[in-house]
Amino acid sequence: MNSKQHPPTRLPEFPNSLWRSTHTFPTFPTLEEDATADVAIIGAGIAGITTAYLLAQSGLSVIVLEAGKVLDGTTGHTTAKVTAQHGVVYNELLQHFGHEQARMYYDGNTEAIRWMRALVQEKQIDCQWAEEDAYVYIQSEDNLKKMEFELTAYDKLGISGDWVSSLPVSVQSRAGIRMPGQARFDPLAYLHYLLDEAVQNGVRFYEKTTATDVEEDASLHVRTYSGSSVTAQHIVVASHFPVYDPGFYFTRLHAERSYAIAVEPGKPYPGGMYISDDEPRRSLRAVMHEGKELIVFGGENHKTGQGICTFGHYENLERFAEDTFGIVSIPFRWSAQDLVSIDKVPYIGPITGRHERVYVATGFAKWGMTTGTMAGHILADRITGRDNPHAAIFDPARFKADPGLKNIVVENANVAKELISGKVGLTHATADQLGTDEGSVVRHQGKRAGAYKDHSGKLFLVDTTCTHLGCEVEWNEGERTWDCPCHGSRFDYTGKVIEGPATQDLPALETPQ
Ligand code: FES
Repeated sequence: MNSKQHPPTRLPEFPNSLWRSTHTFPTFPTLEEDATADVAIIGAGIAGITTAYLLAQSGLSVIVLEAGKVLDGTTGHTTAKVTAQHGVVYNELLQHFGHEQARMYYDGNTEAIRWMRALVQEKQIDCQWAEEDAYVYIQSEDNLKKMEFELTAYDKLGISGDWVSSLPVSVQSRAGIRMPGQARFDPLAYLHYLLDEAVQNGVRFYEKTTATDVEEDASLHVRTYSGSSVTAQHIVVASHFPVYDPGFYFTRLHAERSYAIAVEPGKPYPGGMYISDDEPRRSLRAVMHEGKELIVFGGENHKTGQGICTFGHYENLERFAEDTFGIVSIPFRWSAQDLVSIDKVPYIGPITGRHERVYVATGFAKWGMTTGTMAGHILADRITGRDNPHAAIFDPARFKADPGLKNIVVENANVAKELISGKVGLTHATADQLGTDEGSVVRHQGKRAGAYKDHSGKLFLVDTTCTHLGCEVEWNEGERTWDCPCHGSRFDYTGKVIEGPATQDLPALETPQ
């Protein structure tokens, strides 16, 4: 039915993030009793951990709740570029937000890089920090004007960058813009340091503790799935998709998946970090692993649940790697899920105008290394009563009619289409047609169901109606997960939630004897 039609060539059979595979972290207990702190943070990715680290340094008591394991979400599956060059964005920012706020976006990200670099140097964090030039490039003549406008925006905003008509790497390109003085690193080595320091400074981390709701009286309370709660004066929702959503973020964010492979190349890498702005999306950077230089090739972005057969995305990257640098081996492949806001600028600040002490940090698109760090600073400053000069453009309460309104309609129309399309048309496939290690939507007792048969032939059947708002999940054969096309919830093949906004598992269905 699926994966057998795409035999992996040199790709690993199972996804394995380079970063997650090469680090181990302490384990933390599950929260089983009610607890109290000055600040409760939901989510232990780069935004949550940076916020906790900074608040603990200010002397506040902090509790961090993580639904899974620390650093196992998007932060553990990034390409880890530390840059203020977020594709081609500055002309659009200038048009929609004006000079002052477009410059604020650049300054906030650049300040995040400066802070990270200074910390790495001062604390001698062994995280492969390397200064690199970043390049955004186009492959098609049709996009030349867009690139010229972008460079003009750099000039107007005083951003350092220059035009290149060819790239240092042997990748087909028409033109590009180089931004000097950016960096790459091993994100989990860096965050391991922040995590350890936060723990040393008294931050209490809890894993496998799913926050389900926030309630407000004289204090604030985070409720968890198991019934325990945290009472706090401030709450930071840094759970990727906000698990607590009084601001209808599900109408203002969409989820995108992208893919990465780490390749031992046949040719040496000339340095630099690259990303294409046109299709097919491609991203390149180098990384050292066990004394050898690997290249991380990324790209193939698509909305969650709407890709071609997912293994095909890895194969496309494999072909690109073969054509550009040659392949000796491919030790790692992994995918990531990113959330993108309507105007492509993250939401960092009070979760709504009515919730002054509940904050959100989300919508980092592919650039969470700088924007997640910046979120930590903006939120820690806000909680401790300090002004932050970069906060205004990221305030979730901002309202920009163009292009936001148009995109709200498009996003919601898209979600409505997914809600409907999942419900109509029932497949004729049945679970007994599955081979081992295959999954598919099937017909079970006259209804739509999700089926996966593992290597030993054991069958797992789940209800495919997403427990968030009722869209129908689709099978992701590359990761062996059920993915929701509406807001990006993901479930393992047994139905267990691995990524929200859903907080409840897909119900398991009884398997035929
Ligand atoms: Fe919202 Fe599935 S994630 S309906």
